[in-house]
Amino acid sequence: MSERQMLLEVSDLGKNYDASRRRGKVAGNAAAGTPRALSGVSFTAGQGEFITVIGPSGAGKSTLLRCLNRLIEPTDGTITFDGRDIAHLPGSRLREVRREIAMIFQNYNLVYRLTAIQNVLHGRLGYKNALAGSLGLYTEDEKARAFELLDEVGLGEFAYRRADQLSGGQKQRVGIARSLMQDPKVMLCDEPIASLDPKSSRMVMETLRRLTRERGITCIVNLHQVDFALEFSDRIIGLRAGEKVFEGAPEEATSAVIRRIYEGDAETMVDVPVEVPEAAPAAVAPGAFAAEPVAGGAQ
Ligand SMILES: Nc1ncnc2c1ncn2[C@@H]1O[C@H](COP(=O)(O)OP(=O)(O)OP(=O)(O)O)[C@@H](O)[C@H]1O
Ligand SMILES: [Mg+2]
Repeated sequence: MSERQMLLEVSDLGKNYDASRRRGKVAGNAAAGTPRALSGVSFTAGQGEFITVIGPSGAGKSTLLRCLNRLIEPTDGTITFDGRDIAHLPGSRLREVRREIAMIFQNYNLVYRLTAIQNVLHGRLGYKNALAGSLGLYTEDEKARAFELLDEVGLGEFAYRRADQLSGGQKQRVGIARSLMQDPKVMLCDEPIASLDPKSSRMVMETLRRLTRERGITCIVNLHQVDFALEFSDRIIGLRAGEKVFEGAPEEATSAVIRRIYEGDAETMVDVPVEVPEAAPAAVAPGAFAAEPVAGGAQ
């Protein structure tokens, strides 16, 4: 991590959905003491790093990613992205930052009546004025780039196929190509493989890791598939009940560690592979589950 250039620094990030309601109309009805969706979450991400975020349903994984690109407003904390505090950036300057922070969703978010190549070109919309965007005016360079990217995700021959005629894995790879059209510095992926079978899941994870690595893009991926997190990550962050309860390299995420992250969530435990390799006993620092000290040294 030390040799990587720092790109993102998240410090003491918190989200209380009730707080935003109180500022709106529902003021008096917001239940006092509702658990915070995120609380005191801090971590850093280096350029080109592949980080996965794991944790049971409701742990705050989506909330975290949505705070990072300001789809939702953090209640407290700071997010320093490429030297700028984006947690407090006014709405008018968000568009600029969002070009550099691409988002990949479980449901692909494609325009299904359009072709694969048209969807990929949509990745440039953040760089265009409203008129050029609505008329679909793209430069020859942009078109050539879109074809190249479709090729790179293995879909060159599907360029003119309508998005609704692609398989789930193909749709997600179109989504990845579209994100790369943005020239992002960070890609935030919220359960990108949750709707896919194991073979397509692997292909999407491999595509993500290869392309982000080649381009030095930082990738933060929310996952429920612990086995993929162990296989693909440079670093794993474990969330539980809105708090960071683990941070470390995959070798440090022993089966005991994984169980603790998912503690109390029997349903998800079924997904934990029994063949999770045990790291050397000393690998996980004592207290890795305390709110404060974490393994991994990525602070
Ligand atoms: N828009 C919202 N309004 C109020 N509470 C919300 C909202 N979105 C999420 N929450 C709550 O915040 C907590 C964290 O939710 P979040 O969706 O971030 O979890 P998650 O880890 O992504 O879960 P999953 O694995 O099921 O996707 C949950 O208690 C959830 O009910
Ligand atoms: Mg989620």
